[in-house]
Amino acid sequence: MATNKLPEILVVGFGAVGAIYSMILKKSGLTRVTAVARSNYDAVSEAADRPYSYVFVTTKAIPERVTTPKILAPLLAPEYADVHPQPTYVLLQNGLNVEADLFQALEKLGKGPPSIVSTAVWIGTNLLGPNVVQHNHFAATLVEIGGILSAGGTEITIVGEVQRLKFAKNFWNVTFSPFATLTTLPALFRDPPKDSSNPYSPYVSPTTAHLVNEHTIPTIRATLQELLQLGRALGYDEDGLPSSLVDDTLENTRQLHAVPESEHKPSMMLDMEKGQPIEVEVILGEVVRMAQERGVSIPASDLKYL
Ligand SMILES: NC(=O)c1ccc[n+]([C@@H]2O[C@H](COP(=O)([O-])OP(=O)(O)OC[C@H]3O[C@@H](n4cnc5c(N)ncnc54)[C@H](OP(=O)(O)O)[C@@H]3O)[C@@H](O)[C@H]2O)c1
Repeated sequence: MATNKLPEILVVGFGAVGAIYSMILKKSGLTRVTAVARSNYDAVSEAADRPYSYVFVTTKAIPERVTTPKILAPLLAPEYADVHPQPTYVLLQNGLNVEADLFQALEKLGKGPPSIVSTAVWIGTNLLGPNVVQHNHFAATLVEIGGILSAGGTEITIVGEVQRLKFAKNFWNVTFSPFATLTTLPALFRDPPKDSSNPYSPYVSPTTAHLVNEHTIPTIRATLQELLQLGRALGYDEDGLPSSLVDDTLENTRQLHAVPESEHKPSMMLDMEKGQPIEVEVILGEVVRMAQERGVSIPASDLKYL
């Protein structure tokens, strides 16, 4: 049967990103998709009954609670790994260095070079556009994944070096996610509603707007500037990490916040509201540690990490 020849894909984590990407993969008509709704050992065990070409990891990255190798343990266990070839793992997760623990576990497994594709995923209003990144000899793999995702209806760009892209994407997360989570204000730039019969939505009071301009925006700008300095210390030059990212991040966020109908909240804030663990280590903790290692001072980010 023709369908037997389709590459098998396992999606682990069935939240917002997992559901959307399962749909994209299915819609491509180029894969057989199995999704694990609960990202825990038992659920992955049940799915570990056949070889997979790709395993998409769409869980929250909270390694201090549970590492990726732990979530994927049934695929790394001898019962599976001795019988089936290891899949390529595609990580659709925010944060920095999220690949590290899985890479080490795959090296330790000794079943060939670890095959991990790291990505930066953008999901906006009606726009879905991921960037998938290449590591040396994985070009053919990336072309296949790119073809499947494109056929499923999403925009995809394969780039030569993903860590810089993830670092740039993390600018927004480091700056606005902790800010919204700590202040519980997701719409820093929003004007008050013109129609007072409107249901309540967060906005900036005219009586305090000047304080936002005097204190909040400069603090946010300082955070973005620090990240740029850290980026330079990491070797990302103006071409790789343009200084305009500071103003662009502020301006794009101002536009996002200004729309009265926008209900966008950072997922860190949503998780806090739901009483769930937040991705603070991979988004903020990694930045603090990278800065420490390189002797770069990032006091505004340090303060949020406290
Ligand atoms: N949503 C967005 O707009 C967006 C955009 C770009 C990137 N991202 C990133 O994509 C990834 C997935 O986000 P999402 O929005 O899809 O999250 P989500 O809707 O909250 O779904 C989270 C998934 O992660 C699992 N999970 C919950 N707690 C966990 C823990 N402590 N450790 C590991 N996994 C856990 C959940 O499994 P259970 O069901 O078993 O609890 C669920 O399957 C995150 O890294 C996020 O930052 C999200």
